Amino acid sequence: SDEIEWWEYDDAAEMAAAVADDIGFIIESAIDARGAAVIALPGGKTPLPIYDKLSSAKLEWKRVTIIPGDERIVPLGDPLSNVTALAKFFLPKGARVMPIVPHAIEDYKAAGRSADALMQDLHWPLDLCLLGVGSDGHTASIFPGPDYDEALTGPKERRALGVMPDPMPADAPVPRVTLSMAAITAARALMIAVAGKEKRAVVEAAIKEGKSSKSPIGQALARTELPVDIHWAPN
Ligand code: 6PG
Repeated sequence: SDEIEWWEYDDAAEMAAAVADDIGFIIESAIDARGAAVIALPGGKTPLPIYDKLSSAKLEWKRVTIIPGDERIVPLGDPLSNVTALAKFFLPKGARVMPIVPHAIEDYKAAGRSADALMQDLHWPLDLCLLGVGSDGHTASIFPGPDYDEALTGPKERRALGVMPDPMPADAPVPRVTLSMAAITAARALMIAVAGKEKRAVVEAAIKEGKSSKSPIGQALARTELPVDIHWAPN
């Protein structure tokens, strides 16, 4: 992206209100233009206040489809399940919240193929992909590790794939499915929400490295042709 803009907030609550407003606007515009909105939202802790705010917005939720941008391969209802967290906020609003992992499948590659097949039926490109960032530079569940090249350079039509992070993230040491880099960078809007000094440094370093960046978030930023807003709060 040639246009990266940082938005700084005093705290997580202020960031949540601003990002929720932006997402609400994107949803409304998509519904106006195409009658429906399809958005991908990240897992993890940072976005929870955003979801809290967003879910209280007056929107035509019945026209909104929400998918997790990545998912841990765990049963529905598990505290690690990203779609379970999303469902708590947005199912009561009437949105369609789509699980992407068939939890009966244990082979992560097969889970990825199944997520990909499911996603082929959505309206593409996504209206929005909101991304989080890990301290190792991962975004969605594109991790440095054995499946990295495939996530980055797989066929353009592949929306999702299974990945085995190596090393495993300590907070959720399980295989995942993730949107592919092609699906992420094809979205009509790309936004990042991060918290903390450490992650800010990770993202700034990735931006400096540009196309040669080894980090997943660096590659996402280098590959998208869209302007990207990066929202940041100190906590
Ligand atoms: C997931 C994520 C992941 C997340 C970062 C940041 O692991 O499910 O989608 O990419 O956004 O790990 O997570 P925190 O906000 O919890 O630090």
